[in-house]
Amino acid sequence: MTKDALIIFDTTLRDGEQSPGASMTKSEKLRIARALEKMKVDVIEAGFAIASQGDFEAVKAIADTITDSTVCSLARALDKDIERAAEALQNANSARIHTFIATSPIHMKYKLQMSPDLVVEQAVRAVKKARNYTDNVEFSCEDAGRSEIDFLCRIIEAAIDAGAGTINIPDTVGYAIPQQFGETMKTLIERIPNSDKAVFSVHCHNDLGLAVANSLSAVLAGARQVECTINGLGERAGNASLEEIVMAVRTRQDIFGIDTGIDTTGIVPASKLVSTVTGFPVQPNKAIVGANAFAHESGIHQDGVLKHRETYEIMRAQDVGWHTNSLVLGKHSGRNAFKTRLLDLGYRFETETLLNEAFARFKDLADKKHEIFDEDLHALVSDSVSSHLNEKYRLVCMSVTSETGMTPKAKVTIAIDGVEHTAESEGGGPVDATFKAIDSIVESGAVLQLYSVNAITSGTDSQGEVTVRLERGGRIVNGLGADTDIVIASAKAYLNGLNAIQDQGARQHPQGADV
Ligand code: KIV
Ligand code: ZN
Repeated sequence: MTKDALIIFDTTLRDGEQSPGASMTKSEKLRIARALEKMKVDVIEAGFAIASQGDFEAVKAIADTITDSTVCSLARALDKDIERAAEALQNANSARIHTFIATSPIHMKYKLQMSPDLVVEQAVRAVKKARNYTDNVEFSCEDAGRSEIDFLCRIIEAAIDAGAGTINIPDTVGYAIPQQFGETMKTLIERIPNSDKAVFSVHCHNDLGLAVANSLSAVLAGARQVECTINGLGERAGNASLEEIVMAVRTRQDIFGIDTGIDTTGIVPASKLVSTVTGFPVQPNKAIVGANAFAHESGIHQDGVLKHRETYEIMRAQDVGWHTNSLVLGKHSGRNAFKTRLLDLGYRFETETLLNEAFARFKDLADKKHEIFDEDLHALVSDSVSSHLNEKYRLVCMSVTSETGMTPKAKVTIAIDGVEHTAESEGGGPVDATFKAIDSIVESGAVLQLYSVNAITSGTDSQGEVTVRLERGGRIVNGLGADTDIVIASAKAYLNGLNAIQDQGARQHPQGADV
């Protein structure tokens, strides 16, 4: 990448995951990381390795798997964080450590309770420490949006001298206004004597709905990396959305004069994947990835588009990945074709037994659904991975009866640590009856907060992918399940969520005060 290209740094798996309710399992994160790699994201922030054992393992799995994108872990400006990040990233083809410390008066005084001198000292120490493990070190001034410009100049100059190759300017609380934020970026680049030795980056939150506008203003002022997330997921009101940044820069080359390396046809599939995994739906009128983003309702618009598309359309739907399902395999495809296609998609099975089991599931699916798309394969593989990882509760078999005028009933057999239990229940609908039957066996005390079903591909024979969000004792998890029968997909998702809720350890929040 030349200095005049715009680096896309995706933080869906780190800042995106900080959205309440958006926590993801290791296999879900891997699935998203693969989609990001496929769309040629430059840097994937895979997580905050020290947050928990689960976070460490997820960063490590992504670092071990992804080859084309740089894999990054967040680390506070603390030795223990940097060591943990380095350990998780040790097998990465290209690794970055992203270390940060707060620089605004309010954060230094109340959160860190440190003097500005000490903050500079700690930042320098952290960058030097990180450079012991990799040449690719990013330093962020947390709450830069409310920091004093003189102090920013001082700490950034010191961080670059210590070896930081990327300097990130976050608007952590979403306080900035585009013109003012652009000026801040311009001043920093002009005033810091060694600014030419680093790439300046921007990381904006959306509290005032200005994250994308602020990021683009910073790009016009010289920033050459944007930190963003798919669907704008992220802490509170979210981060700048990747799809909007990428398409704004691509569509308005006349203004920006630089471009990203993103394969934009991966945008809609990645958006759908993130929405399914997190259970956060995409609003229909959301730019680029909303269901209505390219729909022309009014007669005048339709007429114009039919006569000459560019009368009302500034982008082409297919360029951002709408309608790009490609048929890959079918009922007669053999084990080798299945294995080869999965290798192309980046899945490698550790043992022949796992491959054989996945192939058996594929054959079952192909019997029910004649055309198998890449999306089906992703769902099938992540379903088998999660059913192997969290096996406390496993669906053995189930039946439901649902008839007009009758109360739906479900009979479910699940294995708990390998021992089978069966229960029957009635409910308001077949899914309700199924969940009640499972509850009567598991008695988890978890509360269902969200239930959503998405068709993985088009057509009524599509697999349904169900997301459930469960809460217990303040901890929120998501469960996922896929099947051509949406009631079975629902049971799988519910059990997947119950496995996650009993499995998750405590996590630290990266922006907590533990310094
Ligand atoms: O918003 C923020 O300041 C962050 C930093 C950790 C980069 O997420
Ligand atoms: Zn952030």
